[in-house]
Amino acid sequence: MRTLMMSLAVATSLMACSGGEEPAATAPEAASTAEAAPAAEAAPEAAPEPAEVVAAFDAKGEFEKTCAACHGTSGLGDGVAAAALNPKPASFAEAVFWETRTPESLHAVIKSGGAANGKSPLMAPYGGMYDDEQITLLVSYISDTWKPAS
Ligand code: HEC
Repeated sequence: MRTLMMSLAVATSLMACSGGEEPAATAPEAASTAEAAPAAEAAPEAAPEPAEVVAAFDAKGEFEKTCAACHGTSGLGDGVAAAALNPKPASFAEAVFWETRTPESLHAVIKSGGAANGKSPLMAPYGGMYDDEQITLLVSYISDTWKPAS
């Protein structure tokens, strides 16, 4: 589609400068088309964003999709599945919670699960699902969203 439009633009510009240049020198290939159609390229929906959108990790979205069933979208440990849990997940919004936790301890529980960290085995290990960087972003999301200002 875009290629077609640029070819048309090149064809049009060729016709516009009737016969001045050799046709072989202005074949509708990449480098020359980019220069030949500046107006089309200036469109605001230009190129770079799709790759960045894919690369960005949406910690909030992941939390709500994967964690909120137990932890709640509120972070209070009151997700729909939490009623069946004993112990229930602690509230991330309590100051007392943060007195005994660190970013490292949260990271460890998310990565290797509750059982490996002296907590409920119903907190599964997510190290196979998220890499360290993504877990760090989940920890930041939890902390930034719920940790009370001290
Ligand atoms: C099936 C329910 C369930 C799901 C889903 C779940 N958790 Fe948990 N989570 C728990 C339980 C239960 C505990 C541990 C409670 C205990 O032993 O004190 C826990 C503990 C934690 C802790 C440690 C809290 C503390 O007390 O130090 C963190 C951090 C955590 N979960 C984050 C997550 C994240 C992030 C996700 C999603 C990727 C997630 N959890 C998904 C149930 C769940």
